[in-house]
Amino acid sequence: MRILFIGDVVGRSGRSAVCERLPALRERLGTHFVIVNGENAAGGFGITEQIFIELTDAGADVVTTGNHVWDQREALVFIGRQDRLLRPLNYPPGTPGRGAGIFRASNGADVLVINAMGRIFMEALDDPFPAIEKEIGACPLKQAADAIFIDFHAEATSEKQAVAMNFDGRVTAVIGTHTHVPTADARVLAKGTAYMTDAGMSGDYNSVIGMEKAEPLQRFLTKIPSGRFMPALGPATICGALIEVDMDTGLARSIVPIREGAPLGG
Ligand SMILES: [Fe+2]
Ligand SMILES: [Fe+2]
Repeated sequence: MRILFIGDVVGRSGRSAVCERLPALRERLGTHFVIVNGENAAGGFGITEQIFIELTDAGADVVTTGNHVWDQREALVFIGRQDRLLRPLNYPPGTPGRGAGIFRASNGADVLVINAMGRIFMEALDDPFPAIEKEIGACPLKQAADAIFIDFHAEATSEKQAVAMNFDGRVTAVIGTHTHVPTADARVLAKGTAYMTDAGMSGDYNSVIGMEKAEPLQRFLTKIPSGRFMPALGPATICGALIEVDMDTGLARSIVPIREGAPLGG
């Protein structure tokens, strides 16, 4: 089975690229299941229900998020009726929506998708390690799920690697998101879990992590904000990874980075 993961969709540029290209990409790569991180899909900040529907219509089976999940306030409400939208697992008890779910792939396999968030240089959430442990304890690989995919949304490489190492051999893949630049370390770990520190974003790379350059530069150079962050609108590169799953073990046979659309930097 093949699982395609697509990193943080940023703004209109990223959204149009994913919506236009995902149906053909899904076909060409022989993909059975697609997960898209949509936390920056609405103007760079959060996701609306309409955009969520556009992404699922284009072929996303599940949309994951991260620290920007509530930037569009409507997400607090529509997450309750759209069970293919996940928010990080380790938000406080009582947070709307859910951080994990089992979904059916096109080949009939059951895929447990977990969205969790790191705590280093991020908000002080609950500890992601026991939160993930609880989910995979309730739904172990090859007993209750044919594959287990973790989108670990975090700033620090060390924390991402630690999650991957801790769950190596017990989940199919741990892929990082949030830093918006693809890392060159896609590999299958010693016990069979596919790993990539960051999938990269799907957006315009002629930017500062997806945002029009002027405002981030202004803030770095002068420390004085002069406006809002706006997503860069040039041609997008879709970044992600394709994981081949061994159906006997539920572990990964291979992982290859995916880059589609404009070359990085337009
Ligand atoms: Fe992001
Ligand atoms: Fe993020």
